[in-house]
Amino acid sequence: MSVSSASDAMADRLEAILLVGGQGTRLRPLTISTPKPLLPTAGVPFLAHQLAKAAAAGVGRVVLATAYQAPMFADHFGDGSVFGLEICYAHEDSPLGTGGAIRNAAGALRSGPDQPVIILNGDVLSGHDLSAQLDIHAKHDAAVTLHLVEVDDPARFGCVPTDVDGRVTAFLEKTPVPVTNRINAGCYVFRRNVIEAIPAGVVTSVERETFPALIRSGAVVMGYAESAYWLDVGTPEAFVQGSCDLVLGCLASPALAGSPGVPGQALLLPGAVVEAGARVGGGTVVSAGAVVGAGAVVEASVLFEGARVGPGASVHRSVLGRDSSIAAGAVVDGAVIGDCAVVGEGNELRNGIRLWPGVELGPTAVRFSTDA
Ligand code: GTP
Repeated sequence: MSVSSASDAMADRLEAILLVGGQGTRLRPLTISTPKPLLPTAGVPFLAHQLAKAAAAGVGRVVLATAYQAPMFADHFGDGSVFGLEICYAHEDSPLGTGGAIRNAAGALRSGPDQPVIILNGDVLSGHDLSAQLDIHAKHDAAVTLHLVEVDDPARFGCVPTDVDGRVTAFLEKTPVPVTNRINAGCYVFRRNVIEAIPAGVVTSVERETFPALIRSGAVVMGYAESAYWLDVGTPEAFVQGSCDLVLGCLASPALAGSPGVPGQALLLPGAVVEAGARVGGGTVVSAGAVVGAGAVVEASVLFEGARVGPGASVHRSVLGRDSSIAAGAVVDGAVIGDCAVVGEGNELRNGIRLWPGVELGPTAVRFSTDA
């Protein structure tokens, strides 16, 4: 374990820790070459949306808690100055889980023991009001204040009941019998000295260990419920949805302020080519060097750099990895095509199919579908 910078001085600026060390297994094969927080989302790395949101809420200093493919983060974000932030890096030699990662990153904080520190999961798009969450935290002198959202399927998340004053009464991670549809939205405000109570150097989950233990001990854990736009982009379907929503303007991201083509039906990045008669819409992003051939239809999809869609092909709600290729007339619907993979003529890939990087499907007119 190592921490790139540390200081005992009080922070003069609000600090945040961003958790970006997960392997992103649900987004494979996209995350084989690129960690989830760096996947291009509406034309910029996903994390750029969170960094810009943090900066807009008054955060001045960010610690990125890295593990998986750590060096790529510093290559992308450097010292953070392009975001008007100071970014430093806390690396785990082996992943410490969400709690262990927060504890490890705390070594790089400068905040005093009673100051608030914002913690963000590195895979959440949220339009909620961070300043209002900080206000609730301060008003109740809370140990931790959790952002909560209401969802239709709470069993997939951490279920978080509160009392009438908004104080959290339990934290039930992925329970089959949720007692409320309010769930943990992955953005926390911690009092700095509460982070120090997490054991150092030990794999720990804030969701399964830290939050339940705090509540049992009688610590004040508050919920901040807000129904603004919220999406966990951990699955391919959600990743596509998040990128399209940003392009369509369903969520305004400060990282896209002034971006021509946002909001719009499609975002064509410099160097993208859309040939005559092709239709591109539904919030699609066509990245640099990507080509949509004549007469092709591309709806609600993400085309990474150099991806090619042949004439007359059809691509819906899918991700086409870097330098992948879809032949003329092929159909890709609800699929993930890995980097450099090739889908030959006549193939139909539907309903959650994932093609691994470099795989080549010849012109076999085969239909692949998880419905089969
Ligand atoms: P899946 O493998 O698809 O579940 O994705 P994930 O690896 O991102 O895990 P999950 O969605 O549960 O993680 C929530 C957030 O915590 C993400 O932003 C992860 O990057 C981050 N995270 C998870 N585990 C660790 C860890 O051990 N260390 C660090 N630094 N971050 C982590």
